[in-house]
Amino acid sequence: MMLISNTPKTFQINQLSVNIYPSEVELAQGAAQIVREYLISILDQQTEARLLLATGNTQIQFLDALIDLGGVDWSRLVLFHLDEYLGVEAENTASFCYYLRERVEKRVKPKHFHYIKGDATEPIIECDRYANLLNKQPIDLCFLGIGQNGHIAFNEPSVANFDDPHWVKLVKLEESTRQTQVKQNNFPEIDAVPQYAYTLTIPTILSAKKIICLASGISKAEIVKTALEEKITVSYPVSILRHHPDAHLFLDTYSASLLENR
Ligand code: GLP
Repeated sequence: MMLISNTPKTFQINQLSVNIYPSEVELAQGAAQIVREYLISILDQQTEARLLLATGNTQIQFLDALIDLGGVDWSRLVLFHLDEYLGVEAENTASFCYYLRERVEKRVKPKHFHYIKGDATEPIIECDRYANLLNKQPIDLCFLGIGQNGHIAFNEPSVANFDDPHWVKLVKLEESTRQTQVKQNNFPEIDAVPQYAYTLTIPTILSAKKIICLASGISKAEIVKTALEEKITVSYPVSILRHHPDAHLFLDTYSASLLENR
């Protein structure tokens, strides 16, 4: 695949570095190139690496670009995901497990992909099982998207806790998040969207050594402005990235369009 040598507009807000690309394609390519180099460099220093993968539309082009670039030894990567709907089985095409199995696991054959079992009969035990897998060793890298209400993974403003004592928890999804899933054709109607989901908590996400967060399109412009220009608060969970020592936000001109002086 051809490498695009586009230079993004870059600035810093608190500790968060922000890169603005002219288009979503260039954003995906730019983020993929940075992630590729990081993975190659950490696999030079350690035998394997552990990654948290996000889902959602914004990740699609980025994951494709990262896989197509090549050069990463996926057989030394252990993968996890950020969230899953409660009660939804892995074969359901709306599950995040299905998304990641089809878009990533089948294509790159990682060392291991640990999935959250959405349809586990004992959800609290499932949270503990997944937490025990996660907290065994440090997380090297986390991919993130942003919900229109500022959620990261499924840490909705109503349940987000910057000091969460849990690694993984069950949360009630906000109505607006469930509506978005219908608009994106992931579910046929609001009643079909589960009311609850599993999510990695904010401290789990922040424990990653490096965070790559993507937000493209005009629908993210308001939350991007609020999260970067207002105070850091659980009302906009993504704003906490401003306190992470190695977090990077990738925007396109649409999602960045409301930022002051950019
Ligand atoms: C869902 C997922 C999030 C994801 C968000 C953004 O709500 N739970 O983990 O970040 O979607 O999705 P999109 O990229 O489609 O805007």
